[in-house]
Amino acid sequence: MKKIQKICCIGAGYVGGPTMAVIADKCRDIQVTVVDVNQDRINEWNSEDLSQLPVYEPGLDELILRNRNNNLFFSTDIDKAIDEADMIFISVNTPTKTYGIGKGKAADLKYIELCARQIAKVAKSDKIVIEKSTLPVRTASAIKNILQNTNNGVSFQILSNPEFLAEGTAINDLTYPDRVLIGGDIHTEEGKQAIDLLSQIYQSWVPQEKILTTNIWSSELSKLTANAFLAQRISSINAISALCEATEADVTEVSRAIGFDSRIGPKFLNASVGFGGSCFQKDILNLVYISRSYHLDEVADYWEHVILMNDYQKRRFAEKIIKTLYNTVNDKKIALLGWAFKKDTNDTRESAAIYVADYLLNEQALLSVYDPKVTEGQIFTDVNRLGTRTEKENEQRLQVHNEIYDTVKGTHAIAVLTEWDEFIDFDWKRIYESMEKPAFVFDGRNILNASKMKALGFIYHGIGK
Ligand code: NAD
Ligand code: UGA
Repeated sequence: MKKIQKICCIGAGYVGGPTMAVIADKCRDIQVTVVDVNQDRINEWNSEDLSQLPVYEPGLDELILRNRNNNLFFSTDIDKAIDEADMIFISVNTPTKTYGIGKGKAADLKYIELCARQIAKVAKSDKIVIEKSTLPVRTASAIKNILQNTNNGVSFQILSNPEFLAEGTAINDLTYPDRVLIGGDIHTEEGKQAIDLLSQIYQSWVPQEKILTTNIWSSELSKLTANAFLAQRISSINAISALCEATEADVTEVSRAIGFDSRIGPKFLNASVGFGGSCFQKDILNLVYISRSYHLDEVADYWEHVILMNDYQKRRFAEKIIKTLYNTVNDKKIALLGWAFKKDTNDTRESAAIYVADYLLNEQALLSVYDPKVTEGQIFTDVNRLGTRTEKENEQRLQVHNEIYDTVKGTHAIAVLTEWDEFIDFDWKRIYESMEKPAFVFDGRNILNASKMKALGFIYHGIGK
């Protein structure tokens, strides 16, 4: 069996960059080239100053420093990388469609199709093409169709190898994955050989028993299902958090009590202001859309409620702030701590903070925002993209700070929206003294110590407390 010598990854984003950095680190004899149409992104990946990398992930800078320009390359020369590669990972974005049929639900597969067409056009030798992006079940048949109708004598094997990393812990997740999933054509020799070749790469660092192989459709659907189950757990505990607030039960105690049941388990039971991130919402909407397209309306309705509950949780949090501040936040200054969708990432896609900010701005609040890793430009891009009001109005009502004590000065309330560790260690006494009184804290992540905050004088509200 031919050994893989060169890999190309199309898409240098949150998945392509870290995943290929780990493969290059673990397989020094393989040349890995990550390509992208976005020249700025590639320049950032090639930047001497590692703080300029386009993705912030703990441990990523070390990997880049160790492997870049040895066997790991970032480039915009997509054709060359495709031509030279034995194996091509497609790791481009698959956002929710914003137009036409399936608008607001279906995955937009235009970038995937463009990649398939480019591979079909450029390839002169046999290739293994791997779906790394998260895709609707049965996408491989479309890719196969495009690749197998080129009449250029090149043979393609298509595999599904979905990625399960979570942002903020990507390098650890990639280094010690719970499992690696490979879906392929298990009924042909060529298909089995392609699966083996990909499996061998992972076996450089992943125990063989953690490498699962399935048919290609199961692999595609397992990725959507995993995200749907994870998001469902959060919506379930968030639903209970609302009931806790009405009944004096404490959601942290409820989570702990149910998590001890080994069938339920303790992970992913943190009630919050709502889940964010680029994938949970998009992937569930996609699952809903696929289910409806097979006329499985009950299935679609079931999963759709995970999203509806999440929307409710974000709205409920903002409404609680407004109600508690005597039913008006008009011209009141409110500090938002955290803008990223979770800690240890600079990613803000679908972050709950964006929607909480939008609700509060609708009520004419004045917002001051602090996040240790998100830039001012990104924060304004996120609120402006909603199109709720003009960019000028957003600029008049929202200020971004790069220092916590400036952020909170003169505010009526603080809302904690991301669980950054540094927030816990702030000088909360100093913060209290610089605020208007009564000083409110709405802890959307339950990271602060409620009794200590109350002892300092704050009126403290957690989630589900
Ligand atoms: P991203 O937006 O960060 O990166 C995608 C990159 O692909 C962009 O830089 C874009 O310029 C590039 N691109 C798009 N079309 C291209 C083309 N035709 N040729 C070359 N480059 C092209 O996206 P991401 O977060 O890395 O996600 C990629 C896929 O992985 C999605 O399907 C997502 O659902 C899935 N996924 C993401 C995560 C995550 O944590 N972000 C985890 C698991 C799976
Ligand atoms: C998630 C999955 O965990 C990954 O396995 C998957 O690969 C990825 O989506 C994807 O397909 O993109 P990610 O979105 O990066 O990863 O981060 P998570 O840790 O899952 O957090 C998602 C959101 O849920 C965050 O806003 C987080 O704060 C929130 N969350 C998480 C809670 O509110 N409570 C919890 O108990 C856990």
